[in-house]
Amino acid sequence: MNYRFSNKLANLAPSAIREILKATSDPSVISLAAGNPAPDAFPIEELRRHMADIMETEPITALQYGISEGYAPLRSAVADDLRERLHVGGEEDDVLIVSGATQGIALLTQALCNEGDVVLCEEPTFVGSLNAFRAFGAKPVGVPMEDDGISIEALRAACEAHPNAKILYLIPNFQNPTGITTSLEKRKAALALCREYGLVLLEDNPYGDLRFAGEDIPAIKTMDTDGTVLYCGSFSKVLAPGIRVGYLCGNRALLAKLTVGKQTQDVHTNGLAQMAAYRFLTGGNYHAHLKSLPEIYRRKYRVMRDAIEAYFPKAAKTTEPEGGLFVWCTLPDRVDSAAFCKEAAEHKVAVVPGAAFLSDPNGTSHAFRMNFSTPTDDAIREGCRILGALLHEKL
Ligand SMILES: Cc1ncc(COP(=O)(O)O)c(C=O)c1O
Repeated sequence: MNYRFSNKLANLAPSAIREILKATSDPSVISLAAGNPAPDAFPIEELRRHMADIMETEPITALQYGISEGYAPLRSAVADDLRERLHVGGEEDDVLIVSGATQGIALLTQALCNEGDVVLCEEPTFVGSLNAFRAFGAKPVGVPMEDDGISIEALRAACEAHPNAKILYLIPNFQNPTGITTSLEKRKAALALCREYGLVLLEDNPYGDLRFAGEDIPAIKTMDTDGTVLYCGSFSKVLAPGIRVGYLCGNRALLAKLTVGKQTQDVHTNGLAQMAAYRFLTGGNYHAHLKSLPEIYRRKYRVMRDAIEAYFPKAAKTTEPEGGLFVWCTLPDRVDSAAFCKEAAEHKVAVVPGAAFLSDPNGTSHAFRMNFSTPTDDAIREGCRILGALLHEKL
């Protein structure tokens, strides 16, 4: 059969990450390529208990169709948690439960973007979001990252250059892939520009609870007074990504439109998973669990940082994240990271080439992403040793 695929998906490259991950199915390959949370952070016992109890006491609620907005007790528990811990959510705001942040990002694009409309984003940025933008016909346009977040000067220029820009997409905490945190000044400046140019600011914050150094910076949503910001959160990194539960907090009228979109995608998020997330959130251990996470990530990061210091040449510049899952390594301009990552894979270490995170799928990058949350300590050390030896050969 000659499948005549739609233009929307024809433009989606089978991502470089997927290609790299193919190599990682070989057990002899050390993978620093994943974007997974640390498996020892999953509260397995507690989830097992909650799910068993739900199936014992409320099976019909879990198994019956639910409403698209989400399981009502979870919606209000999420709203309370956002308000109490992050000061996120105002009078005009509501919460929509989504099947992972990925769906939230797709729903906003679906709701706002016509074919060819522009989504401004950090360059580099999370490849899953780039693909969500493209899948709904939007065109991602990258705005360069600096050490303290998106370049505000370049953002203003991009707003001027693209009158059909509808969304600014930011990952302000421990960004994927760079690990960079956006400063308070830049959060304010980005919000002001969105107001001036009529863009919705999509604040994607899946890693906010994984801070292991430095001080919390207020979410952009806390500064929102007119519905400009749509805040996107997820249980993927604090509970488990496999349950596929995330949430949006934003203006009620905007969310009503996204809810219609959700009805065309999956009707509602998995009922059992929502109910388990609710019990987890309100069951008494939630805050203690959140407090336990930074230590796990701090320790893993330390292992990678020590290995970088020991093995990498100084010409390879690495970011020093204050949380999250990733370190970003930038090589001198003469080194193409795609070729470097290919060679690293031949030496049995997988990292993700920077080009995978660019808004232009044919762009080139001199950087690559390393993950420290999933591999074992020994794998981090050995992976960095092998990468370091290769880097010394190149630089
Ligand atoms: C920045 C960012 N946003 C969203 C997601 C997807 O999260 P979810 O599992 O909630 O769909 C990820 C996953 O790695 C991510 O890095």
